[in-house]
Amino acid sequence: MTPTQNLNPETQNFHLSAIDVTRQFDPPSGPWVLQQASLEASAGETIAIVGPSGSGKSTLLNIIGSLDSATSGSVRLDTIDITSLSPNDAATYRSKNVGFVFQDHHLLPQLTGLENVLLPSLAIQSRDRKVAYQRASDLLERVGVSSRARAFPAELSGGERQRLAIARALINSPQLLLCDEPTGNLDHDNALKVVDLFVELARRQGIIVIMVTHNLELAARFDKCLRLHEGRLQSVGGTSSDPALRGGEEET
Ligand SMILES: Nc1ncnc2c1ncn2[C@@H]1O[C@H](COP(=O)(O)OP(=O)(O)OP(=O)(O)O)[C@@H](O)[C@H]1O
Ligand SMILES: [Mg+2]
Repeated sequence: MTPTQNLNPETQNFHLSAIDVTRQFDPPSGPWVLQQASLEASAGETIAIVGPSGSGKSTLLNIIGSLDSATSGSVRLDTIDITSLSPNDAATYRSKNVGFVFQDHHLLPQLTGLENVLLPSLAIQSRDRKVAYQRASDLLERVGVSSRARAFPAELSGGERQRLAIARALINSPQLLLCDEPTGNLDHDNALKVVDLFVELARRQGIIVIMVTHNLELAARFDKCLRLHEGRLQSVGGTSSDPALRGGEEET
């Protein structure tokens, strides 16, 4: 697979591996934020990453999403070696294979919900406009905001805006959904709904979902929970069976 191709997550099996990823900012004397961080994920898996503020969670997500480069180590999505992509190929990899959801929705205020969801499809020239429109409408339905398709972001609740952001992240049928504290601005009920939506998307469509969160209750709903500690990822155990996670206390 080259970065210009994208697998259809509904029909393909694929694998993500990050092996011994390190990141030093401002070398040669700057801090080592990641030190041999490793994770593996197969199609349809959900992985939560927890850890204290400043432990490097966003840095790791950015490296997997090719928004940042590792100092050493390897990140692969099937045969794509993400760590060695040129800037152009990295941009293609991102637009075709990765969906990002952040704490802030980053919706454009002058566009309707539907137009915001369609926006990333414009980056892919081969995409048929009618097909993209239909897919956007279907995604709005799936995330439960189809009745608000023509509303502008300012007219929506926080939960509705984040659902739109998730639909936008899915418009190009990515294999990977990378979510950096996606529920940070939501109340408890909406946070649970968003996380359950991620689990459903992974199950139904085979997408790999990686979510950074400080909320252990939400992390426990995922297949795996990893804690970033001193630059490495450690398994927190089988999530729902792990007493440390069942308590749901907030990380700091
Ligand atoms: N571009 C950069 N240049 C220098 N240092 C950076 C840069 N980006 C992040 N850092 C530092 O790397 C460390 C890890 O940052 P990161 O944003 O990955 O942490 P985090 O675990 O996501 O924290 P939070 O939970 O607060 O979001 C922090 O100490 C941060 O200041
Ligand atoms: Mg962060």
